[in-house]
Amino acid sequence: MSQQNNITSVLVNEHKNILKVIDIIFEKCTQMESSRKMNSAFFNDLIDFIRNYADGFHHVKEEDILFRQMLQNLDNMHCNPIPVMLNEHDAGREYVKGMIKAVETKNLAAAIENARGYGLLLKNHIYKEDNVLYPMAEESLDNSQKTEINIAYSQVSAIDYLKEDINSIISRLASY
Ligand SMILES: [Fe+2]
Ligand SMILES: [Fe+2]
Repeated sequence: MSQQNNITSVLVNEHKNILKVIDIIFEKCTQMESSRKMNSAFFNDLIDFIRNYADGFHHVKEEDILFRQMLQNLDNMHCNPIPVMLNEHDAGREYVKGMIKAVETKNLAAAIENARGYGLLLKNHIYKEDNVLYPMAEESLDNSQKTEINIAYSQVSAIDYLKEDINSIISRLASY
């Protein structure tokens, strides 16, 4: 397989950024649990990251580009894991809604519960994509589909969603 027509390594790299933030989530939750103080600035910034990068940028690429092509190619796949992946994206959105409500109502326990729930869900989700779904995509899609996908990816840029470099966002989240 030529590097040029690899359609998942870019998504695996985005997962690495999301996993770094999930580690930060677990760390901050433990800190807030012992201090019993809500770190609202952290939560607000985290919610922006999830909405703009994890859900806005990364999940949009999966849902609108990669999954869409895979669904056209179901005959080449031995099963269809996409509905489960979509359900998990939706479950993540519910945790985010829960987090927003908890921060607004200053309910620390609920904010922590939703943040941890989100972290665990996404960690598991990413594992499945990296190890099952993405290899399946590389195997089942043909070269012309892969070229189309790479063109569509190049039209979606993280900076449009974030307005800021991803690494500075991660460092800021870690510094709260
Ligand atoms: Fe996903
Ligand atoms: Fe993903």
